[in-house]
Amino acid sequence: NKGKYEHYMQKEIHEQPESLTTTMRGRLIRGGSSKAKSVLLGGLKDNLKTIRRSRRIVFIGCGTSYNAALAARPILEELSGIPVSMEIASDLLDRQAPIYREDTAVFVSQSGETADTLLALQYALENGALCVGITNTVGSAIARHTHCGVHINAGCEIGVASTKAYTSQIAVMAMMALVIGDDTISSQARRNAIIDGLVDLPNKVREVLKLDQEMKDLAKLLIAEQSLLVFGRGYNYATALEGALKVKEVALMHSEGILAGEMKHGPLALVDENLPIVVIATRDGCFSKQQSVIQQLHARKGRLIVMCSKGDASSVCPSESCRVIEVPQVEDCLQPVINVIPLQLLAYHLTVLRGHNVDQPRNLAKSVTTQ
Ligand code: UD1
Ligand code: BG6
Repeated sequence: NKGKYEHYMQKEIHEQPESLTTTMRGRLIRGGSSKAKSVLLGGLKDNLKTIRRSRRIVFIGCGTSYNAALAARPILEELSGIPVSMEIASDLLDRQAPIYREDTAVFVSQSGETADTLLALQYALENGALCVGITNTVGSAIARHTHCGVHINAGCEIGVASTKAYTSQIAVMAMMALVIGDDTISSQARRNAIIDGLVDLPNKVREVLKLDQEMKDLAKLLIAEQSLLVFGRGYNYATALEGALKVKEVALMHSEGILAGEMKHGPLALVDENLPIVVIATRDGCFSKQQSVIQQLHARKGRLIVMCSKGDASSVCPSESCRVIEVPQVEDCLQPVINVIPLQLLAYHLTVLRGHNVDQPRNLAKSVTTQ
């Protein structure tokens, strides 16, 4: 039931304040004034010791689920101190990459049925790793065959392009980082700030959803373009990949997410006065580096659309012609949840304006159960 919405993708984008609330329900424990706040993930608690002792955590997934893991990787590395590596399921299988007993392998899948992810799970089980699932589907193959895991509880997702599952996956993996991370005094303030950020996240998502009309106006400007680049780095490298994936899969427009640190190693050659470029430059440890990227793109006459934190428009925009998308600022590791939403809206409006099928894009399936 689409309710007041025209498409499931649109409904699922707008329902993210509620889906995130459900994802976090019963999992954030807010202590009194003296008591520390904490996170409880019932599905992981019996295996936390093993996870904390592992030599490496390997995230494995496909498509949007892979991107969600990439968004969560920095905070997991920071709070756990454990090396975190990333594997696209098919590539792990192609390489028959080494997986060891000392590894924790985390399988991220909305449907819990993706063939490559499931085969990678069998492979990791055979190699003796502790296998953890993060899925939206209770009773799915991945939920059943992993040793333990977490249901993201985002509710049924119907649009082929994943939206609300992506933001709930990031929220769950941020909570996972909090429970795996050592409860050391030195990280307590940071941890509390993230927990406060999670509690307030649905409100901030409600705020960013107000950009709907602005994104529709931007889509009108971009309707006839051949291509769109999205530059990001740090916490928002994943946002660049995921924003580009949405534009590609539903709007059927070529789009590429680019790691801004690689700009000079190729992508800069594409820059001219015609190609539209989104640069994600919200406030975090990479902000000044992104300011410099914007300057360099501007020097080459790049057609810039800059996503920045509220109030930063004048400090990030090099000229009048640069468009801005101002988003609410949240804790740095949660910012990918906010930043992807204008790009989801942009992809949605581009698709409708270009007259393509929103909920069932050409050639794609919600769940890819064959190799
Ligand atoms: C569980 C209940 C929830 C209840 C809550 C109360 C289920 C599905 N969930 O939620 O209804 O409100 O307790 O305490 O009954 N698992 C995997 N692989 C996965 C995902 C999950 O093995 O990919 C396992 C978990 O390790 C756990 C079980 O499935 O044993 C349920 O996981 P989850 O729903 O995340 O647990 P809770 O949040 O504790
Ligand atoms: C398909 C879907 O390609 O599978 C994507 O169209 C999805 O939206 C990908 O990200 C992975 O699916 P899952 O269910 O394993 O997260």
